[in-house]
Amino acid sequence: MTENETAAVFSAQERRFPPSPDFALQAIAQPGIYQEAKADRLTFWANQANLLHWHKPFNHVLDWTNAPFARWFHDGQLNVAYNCLDRHVLEGRGNRVAIHFEGEPGDTKTYTYAELTIAVKKAANALTALGVGQGDVVAIYLPMIPEAVISMLAVARIGAIHSVVFGGFSAEALHTRIDDAQAKLVITADGGFRRGKPSALKPAVDEALSDGKCPSVTHVLVVKRTGEATGWNDSLDIAWEDAMAAASAEHEAQAYDAENPLFILYTSGTTGKPKGILHTSGGYLTQAAYTHRNVFDLHPETDVYWCTADVGWITGHSYVVYGPLANGATQVIYEGTPDSPHPGRWWEIIQKYKVSILYTAPTAIRSFMKGGREVPDAFDLSSLRLLGSVGEPINPEAWMWYRDVIGGGKCPIVDTWWQTETGAIMISPLPGITNLKPGSAQLALPGIEMAVVNDDGRVLEPGHGGYLVITQPWPSMLRGIWQNPERYQEGYWSRFPTRYFAGDGAKLDNDGDLWVLGRVDDVMNVSGHRLSTAELESALVAHEWVAEAAVVGATDDLTGQTPVAFVILRTDKVAEAGSDENVNNVLRNHVTKEIGAIAKPRQIMVVPELPKTRSGKIMRRLLRDVAEQRDIGDTTTLADVGVMSLITGKLAAGAAD
Ligand code: PRX
Repeated sequence: MTENETAAVFSAQERRFPPSPDFALQAIAQPGIYQEAKADRLTFWANQANLLHWHKPFNHVLDWTNAPFARWFHDGQLNVAYNCLDRHVLEGRGNRVAIHFEGEPGDTKTYTYAELTIAVKKAANALTALGVGQGDVVAIYLPMIPEAVISMLAVARIGAIHSVVFGGFSAEALHTRIDDAQAKLVITADGGFRRGKPSALKPAVDEALSDGKCPSVTHVLVVKRTGEATGWNDSLDIAWEDAMAAASAEHEAQAYDAENPLFILYTSGTTGKPKGILHTSGGYLTQAAYTHRNVFDLHPETDVYWCTADVGWITGHSYVVYGPLANGATQVIYEGTPDSPHPGRWWEIIQKYKVSILYTAPTAIRSFMKGGREVPDAFDLSSLRLLGSVGEPINPEAWMWYRDVIGGGKCPIVDTWWQTETGAIMISPLPGITNLKPGSAQLALPGIEMAVVNDDGRVLEPGHGGYLVITQPWPSMLRGIWQNPERYQEGYWSRFPTRYFAGDGAKLDNDGDLWVLGRVDDVMNVSGHRLSTAELESALVAHEWVAEAAVVGATDDLTGQTPVAFVILRTDKVAEAGSDENVNNVLRNHVTKEIGAIAKPRQIMVVPELPKTRSGKIMRRLLRDVAEQRDIGDTTTLADVGVMSLITGKLAAGAAD
């Protein structure tokens, strides 16, 4: 942490916002919850699990004998989709709205729980008719439309495994993910609407499957969203509408083991290859529902909840699909971008649906701050009563703006820390109980045990900074990495044996509140999305002009971090590559094609050398200094101390040109 950051932590620590008595009185989480969980953690989790419907009740809460491979509630059986749908209908909540869908062009559609249940039953029958069964993987590559939720639940309903791939990922990224998971079916759409225009998706699927590249795929289900013409392969492609029309609305949910795999979600690690994080059913749903109810103080009869995440990310899985629907919430789903067709679109949606709980990312908040408060001020946001933040540290200034301008000074803010791997929220204030502190995620939730440790794994006292670890297994923890148990052990459990290392640095302040400081490994956090430097580097060196590449995450006011790349060109390609500006343009587009627009570096600099230690490791710290235009730090461990002056000299000359 820099001195400035430390100073910010301590000055912000002085600011405290106690819960209002009215909020505290009606809050779902009451202060005894911490004590209850401390007294008997496993009984606490069993009680949370028993809020779900079990086709066969469990007797065992946790089996940790084969650590770090956990089994939770393993002798119980349930159906995840039944918990999110049927039971609400059977218990008389069928007429409650499950989804208010708002398309970017302004089209809308409402699903009650009864209607959503029927849609999912039909989709489950359609999948079965296509030969999909328990254990098969279905890749889902869709925009934020109701069919994304319906597909996920239909896959879950028949005991199959979904692998949702964010629609912003490229054909190449989609291909890698389909191939790694050996997906049998792909569900996609012609496209979605973004920034006022149709944005095609199906061509990326066609490219990913071209030339027999994904032989595991037997069919592609295609939802019609934009109505634009797309290529059609009669032997693979089936219209979603036709499959749904042919499917029966009768479907009885079968019971599956609590440890039946529910989904794989690919995320970036420290190597070039994304890892398929595996989540299973009973424990995942227990913690998704528990956290959703207690952290967001969900009163399902009256609240209107809106999480702005895309289902392509873990936040969309746990807090658009599984948590809210398991709890019978009414929620808004919005297809498009925040500023289309006007900068107040989000606030208009909140006004229109009387949203009471909003869950979003700091990057979005910072970009609204830039746009000025007059934009949200033009709308009636008085329905809001709770605000959430996720994905990256929220700076105290953004926190205050969120509270004052969006929350009208009255809404508690929950800053929630968690990861794709943790499956559900792990650290967060509890509204109505916690004295809120801007910028701090504050406390591990009841039932969760965490610590900050030093390099040797010693647990640190308040007032110190170190590495964030989870010291006890938790129900929604990842069960492994798809097809790669060694990488799971090595990646998470070897740095501090018997403890899960999250990859984040954190500080415990003098009150014992946690301040998450960001990644300590080679993973960047761009607008709350994870990207690995290695993944970008391998995309860059795959280009014929590039001999070597190094990527760093440079600090960015808006997005938290942004990728900046340094490349050495092959000598025989220098002439062909032309000017630095041309290299910058061509390679930035190349990264977009290989991974997706979210990975596009802010800048790609052509350099004569890269700074390396004597053992050949790239010193990213020094490159970060260059990218952030700081004085270069300590260079004594460089193999060749002249390298940095070569780089800075070249860049300075470039800037002067
Ligand atoms: O560095 C932490 C950051 O996001 C990482 C997890 O990224 P991902 O798996 O993509 O999941 C994002 C959504 C849950 C973490 O290792 N992070 C997430 N939430 C916070 C955060 N950093 C600080 N504060 C948070 N609230």
